[in-house]
Amino acid sequence: MKVAIIGSGYVGLVAGACLAETGNDVVCADIDAGKVSRLQANEVPIYEPGLEPMIARNQAEGRLTFTTDIGGAVREARVVFIAVGTPPGEDGSADLQHVLAVARTIGRNMNFPKVVITKSTVPVGTAERVRAAIQGETSSPFYVCSNPEFLKEGAAIEDFMKPDRVVVGVDSDEAREALGELYAPFVRTGNPILFMDIPSAEVTKYAANAMLATRISFMNQVAEFCERVGADVQDVRRGIGTDRRIGSAFLFPGPGYGGSCFPKDVKAFIKTASDLDLKFDLLDSVEQVNERQKLVLLHKTQKALGANLSGKTVAVWGLAFKAETDDMRESPSIPLVFGLLKAGARVAAHDPKAMETSREIFGDKIVYAADPYSALQGADALVIVTEWLVYRNPDFSRMRSMMSRPLVLDGRNLFDPARMAGQGFEYHGIGRRTA
Ligand SMILES: NC(=O)c1ccc[n+]([C@@H]2O[C@H](COP(=O)([O-])OP(=O)(O)OC[C@H]3O[C@@H](n4cnc5c(N)ncnc54)[C@H](O)[C@@H]3O)[C@@H](O)[C@H]2O)c1
Repeated sequence: MKVAIIGSGYVGLVAGACLAETGNDVVCADIDAGKVSRLQANEVPIYEPGLEPMIARNQAEGRLTFTTDIGGAVREARVVFIAVGTPPGEDGSADLQHVLAVARTIGRNMNFPKVVITKSTVPVGTAERVRAAIQGETSSPFYVCSNPEFLKEGAAIEDFMKPDRVVVGVDSDEAREALGELYAPFVRTGNPILFMDIPSAEVTKYAANAMLATRISFMNQVAEFCERVGADVQDVRRGIGTDRRIGSAFLFPGPGYGGSCFPKDVKAFIKTASDLDLKFDLLDSVEQVNERQKLVLLHKTQKALGANLSGKTVAVWGLAFKAETDDMRESPSIPLVFGLLKAGARVAAHDPKAMETSREIFGDKIVYAADPYSALQGADALVIVTEWLVYRNPDFSRMRSMMSRPLVLDGRNLFDPARMAGQGFEYHGIGRRTA
């Protein structure tokens, strides 16, 4: 099938590569000319495991192309995905200017009936706004549908190729057939394509992210409670996660959720509710807990080293909002590092993939270490923010020998407190009993 994907970011690139991989003729379009020319040279501007070879292979075999000619891409395609960003506006609502701009371009280039799919995360009612924006430019027939994306950065290819489910909101047979055909190769093992009406599909995406964010904030509060009473959140997590009604996924306490989705989607869900005179108090709390949680590692560091950190060196392992991505959007490392700097600390940080993106945020305010150990040279504390594999089994005696004070504040509970104490570390996790 001839497919156009407008917006070549995390979602557009992964969707484009995977749809090309299954034999479709895909063009990915973007307004960012620099990004497009890098992609044409197989240089992938983001880090996502497995993406680069898939793009190179499909480009070489002629099934995947990149362009800045958005109108041209639309004219050639039978189905057009809108996968541009929907960043938070000042009032928390999703900013739809890019989505609606693309919709108008699609309208101006409607040369035969097409299926137009909103893949960007958009509030309920947006597909209707997309329809109206297209209709404002053309009298030709077309079909809209909503197909929210559930991929996780860091595992995006796997999630797209083997989705738990595909959610499609439709109100026409044409859209249902086209999406059924496109997704058939990805659901061969029986995971469902869930067809529903368009508003339900739009709400599903926000409900899913809000639920996941709620589990994280819930566990972060349970962890805080555990610390007060001398319980261990790892045991509590196992104790509740084995209950099938609860399940074990997404029960890990940590330094607060970040990334391009949870923070903005929770805010947008709250805002859409408030526009409907509905107070989503539960999500207000989820957000507040998360804002507090993003400062927990800073407070633990200051509790151990004192509020004034001048003359102290703090090493930070991990800057990306989670492992296996270079994405720094809303990463808990940002308030942590700025808080440490404000308190006077010298910060030496390492991340396996997010050094380039973090330079755009911290500039020359911090020291960028070439490897995890060189960040530790003379450090008064190590703070672990991201759960990269490379941090999971380090050489503890080498670490200890490099640090001025063997203090580890672990935002991801990577290590066993008793083992760390045995190795001579002062070790504090999140919600763990200190050995
Ligand atoms: N990143 C994720 O993990 C994820 C997961 C599920 C859903 N989503 C949703 O998917 C959407 C895209 O997210 P992303 O992370 O891929 O964003 P992104 O910022 O990485 O990419 C968006 C791309 O759209 C391009 N763009 C903006 N305006 C354009 C226009 N008018 N025409 C053509 N291109 C344009 C930008 O240049 C950019 O390359 C968002 O709504 C997001 O909430 C993201």
